[in-house]
Amino acid sequence: MEQLQGRDLLGIADLSSEEIKNLLELAQQLKSGKLAPKCQKILGLLFYKASTRTRVSFTVAMYQLGGQVIDLNPSVTQVGRGEPIEDTARVLDRYLDILAIRTFAQKDLEIFAQYAQIPIINALSDLEHPCQILADLLTIKECFGSVEGITLSYVGDGNNVAHSLLIGGALMGMNVHIATPANHQPDSQILQQAQELAQNSSKIVVTQDPIAAVTEAQVIYTDVWASMGQENLADQRIPLFQPYQVNQELLSHADSEAIVLHCLPAHRGEEITEEVIEGKQSKVWDQAENRMHAQKALLVSLLGLS
Ligand code: CP
Ligand code: NVA
Repeated sequence: MEQLQGRDLLGIADLSSEEIKNLLELAQQLKSGKLAPKCQKILGLLFYKASTRTRVSFTVAMYQLGGQVIDLNPSVTQVGRGEPIEDTARVLDRYLDILAIRTFAQKDLEIFAQYAQIPIINALSDLEHPCQILADLLTIKECFGSVEGITLSYVGDGNNVAHSLLIGGALMGMNVHIATPANHQPDSQILQQAQELAQNSSKIVVTQDPIAAVTEAQVIYTDVWASMGQENLADQRIPLFQPYQVNQELLSHADSEAIVLHCLPAHRGEEITEEVIEGKQSKVWDQAENRMHAQKALLVSLLGLS
């Protein structure tokens, strides 16, 4: 996919709907083994927050492409001791072919992208988690044949995952319903952006009523009530978020064929019950596997390998 070569992915809106469609098709071809491009490129992983899926799926994807991965753990590199991002970015640019960063501030990603010529991938920030949403869209496409016209209901905290779902869903012509407690709604600018992208082709709904949000939805999605960096708020949030738990009762209001997604890691008994995450409507393990296929398609495209 030549048009993506050399580009950054800082938020899901960095991709057009056509580019996302192409990435999903490429991911399906890579997953089926119809395509197996090879490279000798080097991916850097600079993660300021914990990660299992993103770290391992990027590493495995790169190894399967024939490339290599360097773990730039901030606790053993100079970034952890305060070396400016502007300097780190220009140095890493001279060594690496591509760099995935998990950090707090979206601004840090923007500075990396400004100072490095190589593609910079947002591997999760406080604002967005675009790689996750590519895997989610792939999973929805596998389950329903296409993503367009599907209603996805996200129930819980209006966080980074909710933001990328809003924008990614709007770009793909999905209806996105978000149910959160009053003071935990998505960022207003993200919401406005999603509404503008959706225009007349799909519907964006933000409500405090979880039952209204999931009614007739084909995809029910949730995430933790306290994201990384908010651990100190976790206990006080539990009673406030309890009505937003994805349990069997809430699921009974959705389409009878609805699937349940969760980006993981999950807190059973909080945002999702054991019964639902382990139930037959749960697609969370396919979703986790798809991180690898979707990110491999992303690497292939940003590195210009196809
Ligand atoms: N879903 C996700 O990004 O998981 P990790 O935090 O384990 O990478
Ligand atoms: N919203 C969660 C997602 C983890 C993959 C967090 O930011 O911690």
